[in-house]
Amino acid sequence: MFFRKAVDADIYRFVEFRKILLKHEDDNSLDNVFTDHFTNALHNNSLIAWVAEDDKQIISTVCFSICQLVPRFDNPSGEIAYLSNVYTLPSYRRQGIATNLMREAINNVKSHGISKILLHSSDMAKSFYEKLGFVEGKDYFELRI
Ligand SMILES: CC(C)(COP(=O)(O)OP(=O)(O)OC[C@H]1O[C@@H](n2cnc3c(N)ncnc32)[C@H](O)[C@@H]1OP(=O)(O)O)[C@@H](O)C(=O)NCCC(=O)NCCS
Repeated sequence: MFFRKAVDADIYRFVEFRKILLKHEDDNSLDNVFTDHFTNALHNNSLIAWVAEDDKQIISTVCFSICQLVPRFDNPSGEIAYLSNVYTLPSYRRQGIATNLMREAINNVKSHGISKILLHSSDMAKSFYEKLGFVEGKDYFELRI
């Protein structure tokens, strides 16, 4: 088992997991849209994507979309990361895999000078994010890094 940054060859797995997360597993109608998005965003560095790999199979993913907002006094660069595509294959859950993957990926996000991560959580994942230090706000879960 190891953790690494995603490359083009992994994109099919992000598309697969995205459709599961959106409850459209058998709907192929947006496959090209998702694939183009992940490809372009990885290439223009507006996406930081990480995978956990076991026995040459991607078993868990996380994605950070880098968004440019209007600067604030507490965030002069205006850059924030929006977290999505957080998914672990069912047979690998509750082994700390997503937690360890998130920790590696968050360190990488931080190294890009980004200090704030936002996300919308599924009900099932709330305690997962809280354990990582995210705080539930009015609209988002937030983590200062
Ligand atoms: C949420 C998810 C990514 C967690 O992946 P994972 O690899 O199992 O996570 P971890 O093993 O690192 O879990 C760490 C902690 O998070 C909490 N947690 C994880 N899954 C949980 C669940 N189903 N119910 C309650 N707490 C949970 C627990 O505190 C867990 O620690 P513990 O196992 O020692 O009790 C995974 O369950 C998943 O893919 N769920 C479906 C998709 C989803 O909801 N994604 C989030 C979208 S916002």
